Amino acid sequence: MKNKSLTQYLVEQQRQEGVVSAELRLLIETVARACKAISHAVGKGALGGVLGSLDSENVQGEVQKKLDVLSNEILLDANEWGGHLAAMASEEMETIHLIPNRYPKGEYLLLFDPLDGSSNIDVNVSIGTIFSVLRAPADASGREIEERDFLQPGTRQVAAGYAVYGPQTMLVLTVGNGVVGFTLDRETGAWRLTHDDIRIPEQTAEFAINMSNMRHWEMPVRRYIHECLAGKEGPLGKNYNMRWVASMVADVHRILSRGGVFMYPRDERPSGKAGKLRLMYEANPMSFIVEQAGGVAIDGEHRILDIEPTALHQRVGVVLGSREEVERVQRYHREAQ
Ligand code: AHG
Ligand code: MN
Ligand code: MN
Ligand code: MN
Repeated sequence: MKNKSLTQYLVEQQRQEGVVSAELRLLIETVARACKAISHAVGKGALGGVLGSLDSENVQGEVQKKLDVLSNEILLDANEWGGHLAAMASEEMETIHLIPNRYPKGEYLLLFDPLDGSSNIDVNVSIGTIFSVLRAPADASGREIEERDFLQPGTRQVAAGYAVYGPQTMLVLTVGNGVVGFTLDRETGAWRLTHDDIRIPEQTAEFAINMSNMRHWEMPVRRYIHECLAGKEGPLGKNYNMRWVASMVADVHRILSRGGVFMYPRDERPSGKAGKLRLMYEANPMSFIVEQAGGVAIDGEHRILDIEPTALHQRVGVVLGSREEVERVQRYHREAQ
């Protein structure tokens, strides 16, 4: 029996659970098709003229990579005409992108990080695309969508997912009914269901953090990492391993696959006060996926999905992954208060 396609999975979710509307199914299939096109562009590398940077900066103050902008354009072009969206928002765009008047509008808001892990593009290390789906507020139907309509807590997401462009191209998705993984069949272009119930192990001895920021960390994070490094004679009595890919998608995918804890904590620098990662299109979608897979996702003390956003590109501290480890970090934050 061939592995189910993405369409078959979504039709079954639509039929069984009533979780997925026909419009949401069209939206997810459209994003998945755009990720296929991004995977194709990524795969060309130097042969496709897609490497390197532009001389433009994005609203984050980052120098944009060619693939940041190309991926953003692929997602905009794919999603504008379908009639399933009211508007879009992206890491690479300062403000929201309205659906042109020549197209019908739908009830969903799509947010995305079109190319996550940009610093890895030119060195051929796994990168990805992250997306999050919200409903447009009911009162927005008769008026133009505004940025404030996007500022909803992560608990309001109706779907979230990421594509990871690695040795395999995979799409990992939740519509609120667990987490599933699809592998791109390059011969037929189909997304094939290969992981039908992704769960994060509750325990782990593997942490992911950028150690070069150690001198800036708050005490609870220093305490936790110090314990991990203490080894067998330490209070946890086991040797920890460390991984840091510097593509959130790759680090989170590893944690979904074998457990672990991912940390990009806020730190004591003025630039790090709120953390590095963006709430609306990195932390929220990844937190939805992690929780649906049985893990935990906090900003240090509080559940990320409960955060009431105040700005489209706001940053947040992120500690997510295996329940036992994340809950210990949370305990250390609370003990430090
Ligand atoms: P993006 O490339 O979309 O700007 O995101 C990069 C993020 C995230 O993917 C990763 O976990 C983190 O930046 C890595 O930060 P450092 O380079 O500071 O380790
Ligand atoms: Mn990113
Ligand atoms: Mn990005
Ligand atoms: Mn970026």
